[in-house]
Amino acid sequence: MEEPATILSALLNRRSISRLKEPGPTLEQLDTIIRAGASAPDHGRLKPWRFVIFQGEARFRFGELLAESLKLRIERQGLTASESQLEKEKFKLLRAPVIVAVCAAIDHEHSIPAIEQFAATAAACENMLIAATALGIGSMWRTGDPSYDISIKAALNLKESDMVTGWLYFGSAEAKTVPNIQNYNHSQYVTYWH
Ligand SMILES: Cc1cc2nc3c(=O)[nH]c(=O)nc-3n(C[C@H](O)[C@H](O)[C@H](O)COP(=O)(O)O)c2cc1C
Repeated sequence: MEEPATILSALLNRRSISRLKEPGPTLEQLDTIIRAGASAPDHGRLKPWRFVIFQGEARFRFGELLAESLKLRIERQGLTASESQLEKEKFKLLRAPVIVAVCAAIDHEHSIPAIEQFAATAAACENMLIAATALGIGSMWRTGDPSYDISIKAALNLKESDMVTGWLYFGSAEAKTVPNIQNYNHSQYVTYWH
């Protein structure tokens, strides 16, 4: 695990870490990470977020569902999935000790627009990555085709109109991370409106 960081240094130095190993966050750290997620700004206080945690054997069992859904997606294109494609999908969640699927249970009847409900869950994701970084835990936000697959949404207890905002991977970084803020010139993205 890396050294704990202050919130500001966590914000400025957070990196996506694709290779994450044991140990994962402790129960207490995971609880802090989830609470950080649920502290995100949330228009209308609708609490649209749902957090589905995968660890241990559950990662492999869900991987079997991921592989099955990939097989069907490929078949729907009139093609056949290769063994290596299916194997890769099956073991996907083993890339970190803990994965949290952050989902948006969207109330489409509500006056708060759906995109703002989704935005609250994206803010939750970022809060969680920052909390993890501040705790010295490596993290990565992933999405991909399963996020939009109805069968995967159903397996996560979501409706078709709900969204999977991110699969957040948590664990210990295999190598020391390099901050990405150095030499970063943000002026091209910033203007002052007069
Ligand atoms: C909504 C969202 C989805 C992402 N999905 C993926 C993904 O599926 N695979 C991946 O390798 N990285 C994914 N990322 C991470 C970005 O690739 C990463 O943030 C970017 O490369 C910048 O690197 P950094 O996070 O270290 O600054 C995603 C990030 C966001 C915000």
